[in-house]
Amino acid sequence: FSVPAPPNEPVKSYAPGTPERDALKKQLSSMARQTIEIPLIIDGKEIKTGDTADSVCPHDHKTVLAKYHKAGEKEIQMAIESSMKAHKAWSRMEWHDRIAVFLKAADLLSSTEWRYILNAATMLGQSKNVFQAEIDSAAELADFFRFNAYYAMKIYEDQPLHSPPGMWNRMEYRPLEGFIFAVAPFNFTSICGNLPTSPALMGNVALLKPASSSVYSAYWIMKLLEAAGLPEGVINFIPGSGSIVGKIVMDSPDFGGIHFTGSTPTFQSMWKTAANNLSKYKSYPRIVGETGGKDFIFAHASADLKALGTALIRGAFEYQGQKCSAASRAYIPKSIWNSLKEFMIDELKTVRMGDVQDFSNFMNAVIDKNAFDSITSYIEYAKNSNEAEILFGGNYDDSIGYFIEPTVVLTTNPKFKTMEEEIFGPVLTLYVYDDDKYEETLHLCDETSPYSLTGAIFAQDRKAIELADQILTNAAGNFYINDKPTGAVVGQQPFGGARASGTNDKAGSYLNLLRWVSARTIKENF
Ligand code: ALA
Repeated sequence: FSVPAPPNEPVKSYAPGTPERDALKKQLSSMARQTIEIPLIIDGKEIKTGDTADSVCPHDHKTVLAKYHKAGEKEIQMAIESSMKAHKAWSRMEWHDRIAVFLKAADLLSSTEWRYILNAATMLGQSKNVFQAEIDSAAELADFFRFNAYYAMKIYEDQPLHSPPGMWNRMEYRPLEGFIFAVAPFNFTSICGNLPTSPALMGNVALLKPASSSVYSAYWIMKLLEAAGLPEGVINFIPGSGSIVGKIVMDSPDFGGIHFTGSTPTFQSMWKTAANNLSKYKSYPRIVGETGGKDFIFAHASADLKALGTALIRGAFEYQGQKCSAASRAYIPKSIWNSLKEFMIDELKTVRMGDVQDFSNFMNAVIDKNAFDSITSYIEYAKNSNEAEILFGGNYDDSIGYFIEPTVVLTTNPKFKTMEEEIFGPVLTLYVYDDDKYEETLHLCDETSPYSLTGAIFAQDRKAIELADQILTNAAGNFYINDKPTGAVVGQQPFGGARASGTNDKAGSYLNLLRWVSARTIKENF
């Protein structure tokens, strides 16, 4: 007996003349015209604290999409109490019934106006183009719900233990005793949806703290889950200052774990807080995190030039390089460099950048002023260095939105600052190596960054692929052969990395779900 895996949610094209395009355009203009008020959601109730901040369009920062209320100490304590109250019924609910909520949420995304709401919220609030929004807040979010439900089903059903005659052995997968603190990043609406829901699927309750720059789409995820019938209190929504929310939540004796995606320093600091508070907790907390990356594309002289050039551009500049998986350093053999350079420059000249409501823009804005300042400081550093030159782009303007041109840096130093540090923006640094130093340069690639999230090798020569695979074994949790290092699909390429990139508990896989259970073995004699 085996349950078949679900199909991936088909990606819609929104091509001119399609009804989906009209529906999405209508949704975008209606949402862009209003400023809504976003409350906290605790125990199913909307709570307004009066302490508010603005959610704006990054590509048009005068447009305020929402005023969101921030949680203070009182509301955070309320959220914890509500979670632990909800824990009783939710943890005892049959897993079939829990799964139904998330399968319904996926169906709402597939076939109702929820798809347009989530896509429009992601496009406007996080400055994603239509394709980037569709693969994130529609397809990947639905896939997380459906595939996690499928893996949960497998986990609950497939656990045969040996029982000699006269005995009955079994193991049950209980949820953790405490609540899970889900801390979400701005860059993927689907990740924000996955962080609280994968523990919830396994019977846990969660507090969701979205990134301050993507509270808008996070709120719409909460409304979607509400529409799908998620019982009150199972996921409480508490936007606010990370340091305030984090401190109170992690001080609680009911703290059961963290499901985190975000920066390496924040994750490390949360881990230290958990360690310092250990004596307060009932159990060792589960700490699951996906953090930074300094993702690479490595080319061998046998690489297909067009595939390589396209992967460099798409991998580095889609969503303005703000995917944790984005290609941000590349190693190119001298023999193909001139032809590759010509191809890339010709392609980059055609890249359009601007507002998300113009569907022909390939790039939009970076998320906020802090990101803009940090990314442009790397560009300035490269401009002023005698070890680097700007091969393409390098200009930026934040007068209307936070726009930065796709920027290609060419360096003579393989350990140049922009080859080593995570920039999280549209900056790709290239290093050209001597063809006969292939193996040596692979080692250099492995040793250059503390991260290990994604990476790609481009080669047609099988021996060259094998060597890269061996030398780069620990350099990327998601390793691509002849493809860009972004765009992992749930159910096809479970996602996550080790080293400074996280605990590698692969989002969208049974490995992740197993972190949210505490197994109990039962032996019964007859
Ligand atoms: N899962 C996302 C990707 O693979 C981050 O690009």
